[in-house]
Amino acid sequence: MSAVWVLLCCLLFKESLALSGNFWHITDLHWDPTYKVSDNPELVCASSGNRPAVSAGKFGDYVCDSPWDLINSSVYAMKNILPNPDFIVWTGDDTPHVPNEDLGEEAVLSIVGNLTHIIKAVFPGTKVYSALGNHDYHPKSQLPAAPNHMYNQIADMWHDWLEPSSKEAFKKGGYYTEKLLNRPGYRMLVLNTNLYYDQNKLTQDLDDPADQFAWSDRVLSEAATNKEKVYIIGHVPPGFFEKKRSKPWFLSKFNRRYIELIEKHHSVIIGQFFGHHHTDSFRMFYSTEGSPISTMFLSPGVTPWKTSLPGVVDGANNPGIRVFEYDTDTLLVKDVVTYYLNLTHANAAKDRWEKEYRLTESFRVPDASPASMHQVLESIASDRCYLQKYYDYNSVSYDLTNCNSECRVDHVCAAREVDFDKYEHCLVKEGAASINGGLLPALSVALTLLWVGL
Ligand SMILES: *[C@@H]1O[C@H](CO)[C@@H](O)[C@H](O)[C@H]1NC(C)=O
Ligand SMILES: *[C@@H]1O[C@H](CO)[C@@H](O)[C@H](O)[C@H]1NC(C)=O
Ligand SMILES: *[C@@H]1O[C@H](CO)[C@@H](O)[C@H](O)[C@H]1NC(C)=O
Ligand SMILES: [Zn+2]
Ligand SMILES: [Zn+2]
Repeated sequence: MSAVWVLLCCLLFKESLALSGNFWHITDLHWDPTYKVSDNPELVCASSGNRPAVSAGKFGDYVCDSPWDLINSSVYAMKNILPNPDFIVWTGDDTPHVPNEDLGEEAVLSIVGNLTHIIKAVFPGTKVYSALGNHDYHPKSQLPAAPNHMYNQIADMWHDWLEPSSKEAFKKGGYYTEKLLNRPGYRMLVLNTNLYYDQNKLTQDLDDPADQFAWSDRVLSEAATNKEKVYIIGHVPPGFFEKKRSKPWFLSKFNRRYIELIEKHHSVIIGQFFGHHHTDSFRMFYSTEGSPISTMFLSPGVTPWKTSLPGVVDGANNPGIRVFEYDTDTLLVKDVVTYYLNLTHANAAKDRWEKEYRLTESFRVPDASPASMHQVLESIASDRCYLQKYYDYNSVSYDLTNCNSECRVDHVCAAREVDFDKYEHCLVKEGAASINGGLLPALSVALTLLWVGL
């Protein structure tokens, strides 16, 4: 009898150990090589534009992209916190926010090379899945849907991280797929969604830039046949920016196509991991019946750079890095732990990276499955305390001001609806109109009522 218990106990124990894995997700490092602490706040960094960097210190300033000391500090913090991750997801944007004239192909390649080099040096032998950001090209955001010099050069830099077939695929369109950690039954899809960005003039007239949609559809269909589980990573996400109402990134036709891809293949897609926002947020995907089928995690950036996007108020953030804990058998995301650097404190004292929060603790959910993330979203939507907590984390504990009802609508609708029409409908439904007042919202209510009536 007791032997049976011991056996059972060991089996259970072994299972719970074997099932847990973790990986780092880092994104938007945006190194600004011009950063230099100076008595003249106008001269600190090129990425501030004309904004004075009034609290510049060793580790950066909220109006600047990252100094090298911040890049170095964040990569060593990863090593310190979790030295042996199963793999690293790195979703791009390496260069500073400066005019194209201040960079050039060589400068962009050299910056991508420097960041590649430090990650490789600190994590030798760790597999890195790396996606291109819209700033990892010259001119910025103009990533071609065809082979080119820069994809070639970057593929060579990432040689150690790519299977030979991935390297060839990457050179063609900046995307690739391979078995996750070379294990049968598990797959990683690395997308180049910069091809869908509305700032990209090279792809706007194409139906399927670099055939990425047709290819993804094929890969995911084959994954289903082969009973594989898939993670998707990329840089520019579909849907809307939660800090600016009605601000999408994708062209409408590409946004629709992306949603269709997820809806069709959600049963094999176990997680989506993206960047570009620099904020900490997430996006839900629902079936036509309304059940949660997939979640896209938007991880915070390392750069603290205050966005210059018109209409965003005080859009800076503290530097953030993130560990995903997952079930190595099912790939289910079990938890998300975000670490951050209080930049003000770092400049005043030292670079102390701290745990900001653990998802399951802060939002009282059992895991980070689509069903749990739906629950998180409903808590944020219905409970002021959860909303405020989410809002504090959204800027990585930089902006701790009150999230009012307009703010609530922006964040809730962005997380809930990736689809353009459904998002606009959500704004109306969640009360954007009544808060805004004025003619336009009233008109949109009237139109919606008319639309619903029809
Ligand atoms: C990078 O950070 C590590 C760990 O804090 C430190 O030992 C090293 O001197 C730093 N390197 C540079 C170039 O600042
Ligand atoms: C960046 O890489 C270049 C070579 O491309 C090298 O000369 C330079 O020292 C590197 N800078 C840093 C900070 O690593
Ligand atoms: C960051 O550090 C500053 C200076 O020490 C402090 O005033 C502020 O409260 C800290 N922010 C957070 C979120 O802990
Ligand atoms: Zn970025
Ligand atoms: Zn970006």
